[in-house]
Amino acid sequence: MLLWSLAFGLLPLSTIGIYLKLCKTRVDGPKISLLKLLRTMPTSASANLETGQMYHYGNFSEDFLWGVSSSAYQIEGGWNVDGKGPSVWDTFTQRPGSGIPEDGVGNIACDSYNRLDEDLYMLRAMNVKSYRFSLSWSRIFPNGRRASLNQKGVDYYNRLINGLLALKITPMVTIYHWDLPQALQDEGGWEKAEMIDIFNDYCDFCFATFGDRVKFWMTMNDPQGIAWLGYGTGKIPPNIKKPGTAPYQVAHNLIKAHATAYHTYDDKYRSSQKGVVSIALNAEWVEPKDITVPREITAADRAMQFQVGWFAHPIFKNGDYPEAMKAQVLVKSELQGLSESRLPSFTEEEKNLIKGTADMFCVNHYTTRIVTHITVSFGIRRLLNWIKEEYGDPDIYVTENSVSTPRDWAWDEIDRVFFHKTYIDEALKAYELDGVKVKGYATYLMDSFQFLYGYIFGFGLHHVDFNNPNRPRSPKFSAHAYYNIVKNNGFPRTEDETMLYGQFKEGMFWSSATASYQVNINVYCLSIWDKFTHTPGKISQHDTGDFACNSYNKLDDDIAALKKLQVSHYRFSISWPRVMPDGTTKYINQAGLDYYNKVVDALIAANIQPQVTLYHWDLPQALQDVGGWENETIIERFKDYADVMFKNLGPKVKLWITFNEPDRPDTLPYIVSHNIIKSHAEAWHVYNDKYRASQNGKVAITVNSDWAEPRNPYKQEDYEAARSVVEFYLGWYVHPIFNGDYSPHVKRSVLEQSLFTPEEIKRINGTYDYFGLNHYCSVLAFPVDFGTTQHYEADSDRTWIESGSSWLKMTPFGLRRLLRFIKEEYRNPPIVITENGVSENGPVDLNDVHRKYYYEQYINQVLKAYLIDGVNIIGYTAWSLLDNLEWAVGYTERFGLFYVNRSDPDFTRTPKASVSYYSSIIRCNGFPNPADGPHECWNPNLVVKLCVSFFHSNKRAH
Ligand SMILES: *[C@@H]1O[C@H](CO)[C@@H](O)[C@H](O)[C@H]1NC(C)=O
Ligand SMILES: *[C@@H]1O[C@H](CO)[C@@H](O)[C@H](O)[C@H]1NC(C)=O
Ligand SMILES: *[C@@H]1O[C@H](CO)[C@@H](O)[C@H](O)[C@H]1NC(C)=O
Ligand SMILES: *[C@@H]1O[C@H](CO)[C@@H](O)[C@H](O)[C@H]1NC(C)=O
Repeated sequence: MLLWSLAFGLLPLSTIGIYLKLCKTRVDGPKISLLKLLRTMPTSASANLETGQMYHYGNFSEDFLWGVSSSAYQIEGGWNVDGKGPSVWDTFTQRPGSGIPEDGVGNIACDSYNRLDEDLYMLRAMNVKSYRFSLSWSRIFPNGRRASLNQKGVDYYNRLINGLLALKITPMVTIYHWDLPQALQDEGGWEKAEMIDIFNDYCDFCFATFGDRVKFWMTMNDPQGIAWLGYGTGKIPPNIKKPGTAPYQVAHNLIKAHATAYHTYDDKYRSSQKGVVSIALNAEWVEPKDITVPREITAADRAMQFQVGWFAHPIFKNGDYPEAMKAQVLVKSELQGLSESRLPSFTEEEKNLIKGTADMFCVNHYTTRIVTHITVSFGIRRLLNWIKEEYGDPDIYVTENSVSTPRDWAWDEIDRVFFHKTYIDEALKAYELDGVKVKGYATYLMDSFQFLYGYIFGFGLHHVDFNNPNRPRSPKFSAHAYYNIVKNNGFPRTEDETMLYGQFKEGMFWSSATASYQVNINVYCLSIWDKFTHTPGKISQHDTGDFACNSYNKLDDDIAALKKLQVSHYRFSISWPRVMPDGTTKYINQAGLDYYNKVVDALIAANIQPQVTLYHWDLPQALQDVGGWENETIIERFKDYADVMFKNLGPKVKLWITFNEPDRPDTLPYIVSHNIIKSHAEAWHVYNDKYRASQNGKVAITVNSDWAEPRNPYKQEDYEAARSVVEFYLGWYVHPIFNGDYSPHVKRSVLEQSLFTPEEIKRINGTYDYFGLNHYCSVLAFPVDFGTTQHYEADSDRTWIESGSSWLKMTPFGLRRLLRFIKEEYRNPPIVITENGVSENGPVDLNDVHRKYYYEQYINQVLKAYLIDGVNIIGYTAWSLLDNLEWAVGYTERFGLFYVNRSDPDFTRTPKASVSYYSSIIRCNGFPNPADGPHECWNPNLVVKLCVSFFHSNKRAH
């Protein structure tokens, strides 16, 4: 990790140590429906996999109201111009010691009062269908009452509304968003019942003045906040601290005020104006700590009733507070020795006035934390379902949903993009899968005055430069991403996620793989891995490869496993020190050679072709002791070793891999990769000169590479970063072997003194018979500027499915793109995928649905590369046959198709569920279309004819 950044400036692409892959109905008791909701809605990726739902692709209804939102005090500025009166927020923020960071005030804010055209421009560019904004009460009525009418304020809102309508954007208007005229507060504010009529008169004026054009009204925003924070804790203006009684009295008045205004609309305006009226409520989802404990569910439900039910229950249900709330406040009041509950009660007349005074449910849903994982977003789906169940299936509009990020992240913040991608997808699931009537969604238009947080956070799709008097607005990455969601009306399934039906070419071979050190008994040989695993503290749980899967003694079991898989090939590696204990030809261990001959013979007898790796990381310790790959003499040693193996096994082995994933150059002196490339070339020449004519096999090197996508697809630099990452990973070893020299990118970055000589280039160029590729996952790349050096960092998309290895996120699309890249960059070589697979950790579960999914999706991408892109795929190898020693993480991460019970003296191999799936792909040589009816090849008893056709096509070639 550290070395990566030091040597190279390239920061870690999710690496670990030495393993090198980057990459509701009755209020008083637990509710049946809440419980059902909790049980049926998956939160984890694997649970999602079981229902076949990972990321949900789909779209909202055609009339879905995509929008952005704001509120008057947060954006307008112009606090005292053109006759506007002060609001409680002006008073609060301008008073010294407000406690707002940087003494933030909304005096100018985004200056929207003076920059209406700029706001309209942004809205047009976003192509949204709605804009939610609020009216500043004291701009229209400077002292809160009609007699003080300020025509200039009315004119401003008329210009805004007319501007929106000209752009075909629906105005969604909040009449009162926290900014009570100071003059009204001076008379006692919401603690006084007189406010009900005053507010009604203000709403009446708004309906009469704007209602010919405004059809979507919210009387007030977040009344819980006003009651609790304004009059309980006193954190927000009017800063009254009377937590025991005032919030309940204030809420009582707010509810009646809302209901009265609603009736005014109904009585005087609805028939002519035909609009809808509601109230915007804040709601957080409260997840029970343990859904199996009824007490916890009751507690969670009570919390929801106190939070949302306080206002929603009277308005949407029966005109009265939730029973749970009434009971709780009464008990507490009695404990305090009060003669009556602090929660006031409604008269029957009032209940009838309040009940049913909302035409739709408007919900603000926030998270104050930055989302760290996709599962955090499931709350919105549960909340939407809860509202549906609790309030009789209303139309629901998400009227605010956003996340705060540090202001400095500005334009390129990825968190807001992931936030929208995951939250909106959860809302889409609620709509499409759960049948919740989600009708609209709005997120913040631009960074603005964030009330108690001032300007320290970014909150919107547009960045606003608050240091510049012109308050320039610029779209962030999230604005582009949101634009696309709006344009697509959700997340339509793309070609990447659509299965392609068809077959691979005749003769395509199918394999599964292991590596010697990871599966064999290793106590009789000594490699650098034996020393490493026996060094205290190097490996999880002190795992070693001493006995590993005991493949040395369990050959018959391994062959039986391979036959069950119905593979045509088996990839395994030779332990160099098992054959040459000190790494040289001075002493050849005949027992070691005999063992490998036995393995090869047993495979061929089973009609399985061997695919042999000469070097899979286990260097003889004796060679490491004289400098290992840093000592140039190793080239000759490797060549000798290869010669011995070609000579002894070559008559029977037709597919060779010189090196598996040679060490990562960034972690080592450059000479190491230099010597490895030369060693590979010498081994290839030995084969070419001495054995090819008689043995007629294929020799190649295998590299591991991630695919990289630009993190921000709207930035050229990110495209360049992605390209560099692939060129670097894939190209370091491959470019000299396929194209003759290090790539210009690699040369530029590091190799000033250590370039190949022209003779070396000639010797190395073209030393391949096919392209060996190990691939597991993709990353999102972006550059980081550290002055003179170019650094790249890699992220992963939070919607990517996780596996048992932190570095491995399931990203099937990347394999196809990588294959296409190889085709274009290296003149369409024949490609053998020599490793591809996924891990799990934790308790043993033989039903490995995630692995079945992984193979289905990844192999299908290979099929697309072959059929659509014309990539020359000749073989595919699943990693791994067995759960084995996963290098530095020991036996904790399991990549096997077969589970190996290492506590069983027989080291029993048990097939996981994915075995039968992978073998059906093999039998079918691809994916027959289920629409064509049942296929013969789906039958597990079908004898595979693939090996036959493999040889058949080979013969034809000669
Ligand atoms: C969305 O999906 C429905 C079917 O589920 C379809 O009828 C509608 O036309 C789709 N398209 C758009 C743009 O919303
Ligand atoms: C390189 O290896 C040879 C043996 O092959 C040994 O004699 C020599 O000392 C080694 N060089 C270094 C610098 O360790
Ligand atoms: C490597 O070989 C290829 C194919 O023969 C040739 O086109 C290319 O120019 C060679 N590269 C170098 C650096 O010589
Ligand atoms: C592994 O083998 C041991 C010993 O035979 C046995 O007790 C245990 O149940 C096995 N575990 C699994 C997961 O099969």
